[in-house]
Amino acid sequence: MKKIAPSILSADFGYLVRDVKMIEDAGADFIHVDVMDGHFVPNISFGAVVMKSLLGRTKMPFDIHLMIENADKYIPEFVTENTEYITVHQESCVHLDRTIELIKSLGVKAGVSINPATPVCLLENILNKVDLVLVMSVNPGFGGQKFIHNACDKIKELDRIRLENNYNFDIEVDGGISSKNSAMLYDLGANILVAGSAVFKAENPEEEIFNIKNASINC
Ligand code: DX5
Ligand code: ZN
Repeated sequence: MKKIAPSILSADFGYLVRDVKMIEDAGADFIHVDVMDGHFVPNISFGAVVMKSLLGRTKMPFDIHLMIENADKYIPEFVTENTEYITVHQESCVHLDRTIELIKSLGVKAGVSINPATPVCLLENILNKVDLVLVMSVNPGFGGQKFIHNACDKIKELDRIRLENNYNFDIEVDGGISSKNSAMLYDLGANILVAGSAVFKAENPEEEIFNIKNASINC
């Protein structure tokens, strides 16, 4: 099923609850929460305190994307009644298996993400344990960047591996996504698309959310 996870990184933080209500009413499936530490990525965003300010104000599940070092130390803070997925980066987790097990032990779905320069084959020994694979289609750290096309082959490869092994992880894609390329990405096998600037900087964000989910490959 096609799902969309708007990234609040591009929301107006002075009106965060208003913006979150807007995407919820427009049919968004998740809130994508981009956590950046200024070490793993060259930017600092926000932490668990900001995420927790949304509790009780939305029914949407949280899709937490941790772009941080020492993820194990901070993961428990992100477990809330709204938290559906916590995703960590393959590149930042030395003991990835332990980190994935930690997330699952806290009762949350576990995701792993790969940067544009990281091949899918490095996930070979963890794909049987994860609930989600997040393919980065930009170098993480900032919203509003241009889509990097090698993500397409990775989605196809993950879809094939999923089928051949009877795995059922979600395939999510993040970075440079709008209603102009969403149909192609769903068609390749992705089932959750993240969109930040395309949604929050749109003249009509509700319409863009609808269009991302309902774009047709033929148009
Ligand atoms: C990048 C973040 C993305 C980003 C997407 O580091 O992980 O979620 O906010 O932003 P857009 O959709 O503007 O590329
Ligand atoms: Zn993200």
